[in-house]
Amino acid sequence: MEETRIVWMNGNLVPGSEANVPLLSHSFSRGSAIFETFGVHKSTSGPVVFRMDQHLKRLKNSADLLGMELKYGIPEIGEAVAKTIIANNTMRGVVKIMAFWGEEAIVNMVPSSKLDVAIFSLNKNSNLPLDNDTPLRACLSNWRKLDPSSIPVEAKAVGNYLNGYLARREAKDRGYDLSFMLGTDGFLAEGSIESIFLVKKNILQTPKLGKILPSISRMTILEIAQNVGINVKEKNLRIKDLFEADEIFTSHTGVKVHPVMVFEDKEFKIPGPITSQLSKIVHDMIYFKNNKFKHYFKDIV
Ligand SMILES: Cc1ncc(COP(=O)(O)O)c(C=O)c1O
Repeated sequence: MEETRIVWMNGNLVPGSEANVPLLSHSFSRGSAIFETFGVHKSTSGPVVFRMDQHLKRLKNSADLLGMELKYGIPEIGEAVAKTIIANNTMRGVVKIMAFWGEEAIVNMVPSSKLDVAIFSLNKNSNLPLDNDTPLRACLSNWRKLDPSSIPVEAKAVGNYLNGYLARREAKDRGYDLSFMLGTDGFLAEGSIESIFLVKKNILQTPKLGKILPSISRMTILEIAQNVGINVKEKNLRIKDLFEADEIFTSHTGVKVHPVMVFEDKEFKIPGPITSQLSKIVHDMIYFKNNKFKHYFKDIV
């Protein structure tokens, strides 16, 4: 851990070494914490956050879906984010918000307390390589995305990520960078921590919502694509759509357009034209070379 890290923890800025939870807390021992991660970017006026309103809305929604209540209101958390970014002198990095039951809960499966909140502002570095869009080698996972009838997959909950861990582990074991999971219905779902897009005959396609995390990057890419006249379709996609695609890319907070050069044994010519077009727009957006999408950013002071 960076020795100088400052964490906002339940109302106070504390050294990172003091931001801990007991091993027997519900959130650690049952995996019940919820979280959000979003970008901090360097604008001409200082650090700005990327679509924090949407991320905080999703945080609240994660809590609601799991019957949990945050100890702090969304406006208060927004103010705390600003303080944390300033305290850590973050210019390019990510904010990570964790909300959790921090007290010991040994047999109590349903704590009645409100969720503690910890906010981190993590600076881009070699352990946090943001915006690195080196083309990816992807495979199909044998693991299926969690079924929404087992757990709300639209909640960004720590426990859900064992599913993503297994899918990523399988990919690494097979020599790929990442893998794509199908849902239990057999349709394409998402990667461990990323949404999947494909382009076929100039139409940008991505799995529809309902069985995947409602990704803010996914939403942004769909909005940008429509704004620049690219046809988009949110629909049920099958494995064969990946093999028949002209282009595939993944998307998440850290790398909004990440081209895929290999899917299983199929190679793609990269960069494909629509992937390149979107990648350039995103690049210009996050480096403030184009004001068209400036409304996605919010000053923190
Ligand atoms: C399962 C999953 N899908 C998609 C994404 C991308 O979401 P976002 O754009 O909000 O980062 C994430 C991000 O962590 C994720 O965990």
